[in-house]
Amino acid sequence: MKKVLRKSAKWAAGLLSPQSHQALRQRYHQWRDKRALRAAYRYDERSYLAGSGLLRQYHDKTSIEASLIKAFHRIEKGLALSAPRAGFGRDAVDTLLADGEKYLKLYGGNQTLVRVVQTLDEYVAFNRQHQVNLDWLLPRLEAMRLALIALKLWGSGPVEAGTVMVSRAAIHAAAKSDMSQFFAQRYSVRQFDPAAVVEEQLIEQAVRMAQKTPSVCNRESGTVFAVRDKARMNKLLALQNGNRGFGDQAGLLMIITSRQDTFLSPGERYQAWIDGGLFAMSLIYALHSLGLGSCCLNWSVEPEADLALKAASGIPADHAVIMMLAVGHLPEQFRVASSPRRPLTDVLHYL
Ligand SMILES: Cc1cc2nc3c(=O)[nH]c(=O)nc-3n(C[C@H](O)[C@H](O)[C@H](O)COP(=O)(O)O)c2cc1C
Repeated sequence: MKKVLRKSAKWAAGLLSPQSHQALRQRYHQWRDKRALRAAYRYDERSYLAGSGLLRQYHDKTSIEASLIKAFHRIEKGLALSAPRAGFGRDAVDTLLADGEKYLKLYGGNQTLVRVVQTLDEYVAFNRQHQVNLDWLLPRLEAMRLALIALKLWGSGPVEAGTVMVSRAAIHAAAKSDMSQFFAQRYSVRQFDPAAVVEEQLIEQAVRMAQKTPSVCNRESGTVFAVRDKARMNKLLALQNGNRGFGDQAGLLMIITSRQDTFLSPGERYQAWIDGGLFAMSLIYALHSLGLGSCCLNWSVEPEADLALKAASGIPADHAVIMMLAVGHLPEQFRVASSPRRPLTDVLHYL
């Protein structure tokens, strides 16, 4: 089909003036791009329908878990306000009880359920101070606790969920370093020390740091697939269009994705890209803080390429690929692109 179109275009070019030929070419490109865009949106729609929790939240393990995290986070948030309203969040607690019981029945317990109970304990303590009647909640909460005790999940670890008291002094002390230099000295690195292996310990430390990234209701969709095997890395890099001349020097390839099954509503259809993008940025800065260089590698692709990457890598279909990241140790001295920035007045607008 493409060949026929190309031949017809050549034939038409011979009959038309250069201006008309130019106009015709432009019309053809617009038609082609609109068609590809429509196909890409259809792919996104299908991917979100199949991969997100929109339809899966009633039965799927991760999606029920995401709904639990979303609901217990609403309670955590409420408890973290300066003056929480007594008895607040009844609908979130109802969701926690119903989804918690469903999760126990379908999948048994897990750490999220422990956090649900921990959060509800703080909710109960707060509401007791305000003499709120909790008869509707207590028996179901205790039943959930007993189920977790029976599964040996309750009582051994620290309390992680609920709220935590922090101080301005402690936050200021931890954030005191001059971050402007830290930001200014991060460059997209396109030369790596090809001999240096990126140590597993550094990879894990960086990902752990990136896990502190904010995410919608703390659902943590950000995920990393790390590849260190050279042959595998080169095979995957061959599917990406922006790493020529340096990708093969990287000691590590990261593919950053966002789990769609943690998103639950039509309104969250773009959340994977937002949370995934934030997670990616944290990871880049975490790597920078550990002395490693990295270069984002765009995954701005049409459906065929996305499917090809998933087939070649084994990344599950319900992950949205955010970007690849070439990572490696820095050479002694090397050039980077200056990449000058816009003036502040282009970027900052007071309303
Ligand atoms: C999402 C994203 C995709 C990118 N893709 C590529 C790429 O495919 N190849 C590349 O060499 N650089 C890529 N970059 C790097 C940008 O060119 C770079 O961040 C920009 O020029 C600013 O320079 P700096 O990172 O050195 O500050 C990408 C950056 C982002 C954020």
